[in-house]
Amino acid sequence: MHNVTLIKGDGIGPSIMDVAVKIIDAAGVKINWEEADAGMAAFDKHGTPLPDETLASIDKNRIAFKGPLTTPVGGGFRSINVALRQKYDLYANIRPAKTWKGAQTKFDDVDIVVVRENTEGLYMGLEHYLTRKRDVAESLAVITKEGSERIVEYAFKYAKENGRKKVTACHKANILKFTSGLFLDTAKEVAKKYPEIEFNERIVDATCMHMIMDPSQFDVIVTTNMFGDILSDLTAGLVGGLGLIPGANIGADAALFEAVHGSAPDIAGKNIANPTAVIMAGVMMLNHLGETEAAKRIKTAVEKVVEASEYVTPDLNPDSKAGTIEMGEAIIAAL
Ligand SMILES: NC(=O)c1ccc[n+]([C@@H]2O[C@H](COP(=O)([O-])OP(=O)(O)OC[C@H]3O[C@@H](n4cnc5c(N)ncnc54)[C@H](O)[C@@H]3O)[C@@H](O)[C@H]2O)c1
Repeated sequence: MHNVTLIKGDGIGPSIMDVAVKIIDAAGVKINWEEADAGMAAFDKHGTPLPDETLASIDKNRIAFKGPLTTPVGGGFRSINVALRQKYDLYANIRPAKTWKGAQTKFDDVDIVVVRENTEGLYMGLEHYLTRKRDVAESLAVITKEGSERIVEYAFKYAKENGRKKVTACHKANILKFTSGLFLDTAKEVAKKYPEIEFNERIVDATCMHMIMDPSQFDVIVTTNMFGDILSDLTAGLVGGLGLIPGANIGADAALFEAVHGSAPDIAGKNIANPTAVIMAGVMMLNHLGETEAAKRIKTAVEKVVEASEYVTPDLNPDSKAGTIEMGEAIIAAL
């Protein structure tokens, strides 16, 4: 029996998480789901977006399965996603994007894993106004050698263990000579330890252009926090949208699994959110827990349903009559 903290989240979160949990249960994995609140839902209920009980549950279980959380734009509370990643030092954010049979896209050979540094850079929240008038603001991006080393090491180990051939370090060291420069220099040093894996480096803006022209030249991409966030949404667009991309947030002694997408308020409550991304985040969690057989069965079932394109959400097939719930039922039937 595994103990997992379950945070259903905001917007489309509860509907897609319910589907994912049902599928994992249907695969026969014994999980004791410990439900906890976070984000806007927690703020409305408890007056805080990150209640102590939620932290106590993650402290104990060290594994969380989380739906998307709404973060107010501009003012309001700071991102709870970022807070959780920093509190549990979940330094490696793994975001795989692979072409799905059945999802209409411009390319049929995308297979890119973005390994994003998850605790440093511009996401540290070190920002403030410089004037009383609040007409000048500054934000600090902190990059450390240690933080760069461990994320690049993670990317190379991931490449080795998963039979990947190439690691590309993505940066802006031509302009950000100290921060991005430190990341790049460290990446070059770490790469020397892995001669069997091809290594190259690319500037982030050119990377975007190359990715859209010919995504097949990318394999594993390792990069800093902000660039990883942006590039992984780009890879999502290459394979059929945000509804398909899972993410794992991994630390030395805790891990949190979630979709790359957010709470999608524009489609919440309509039974049209694609549950695939969170289901595949569940597959990553099961692999992490050693439940590899169940993970494989669920992945195969999801692939079958997406390929058949009958019981899928409208983002995958606008003519489909199915929604989130029906897609979940089809996946359970395919199991
Ligand atoms: N990890 C997280 O919890 C996380 C990640 C990103 C954004 N957010 C938060 O989510 C909120 C909304 O952000 P946003 O609108 O910029 O990004 P979003 O990812 O929620 O939505 C972007 C677009 O993708 C679509 N989309 C997203 N998930 C989908 C799915 N499963 N199926 C079909 N379509 C889907 C949405 O309808 C929308 O058009 C914000 O408060 C943001 O801070 C949270």
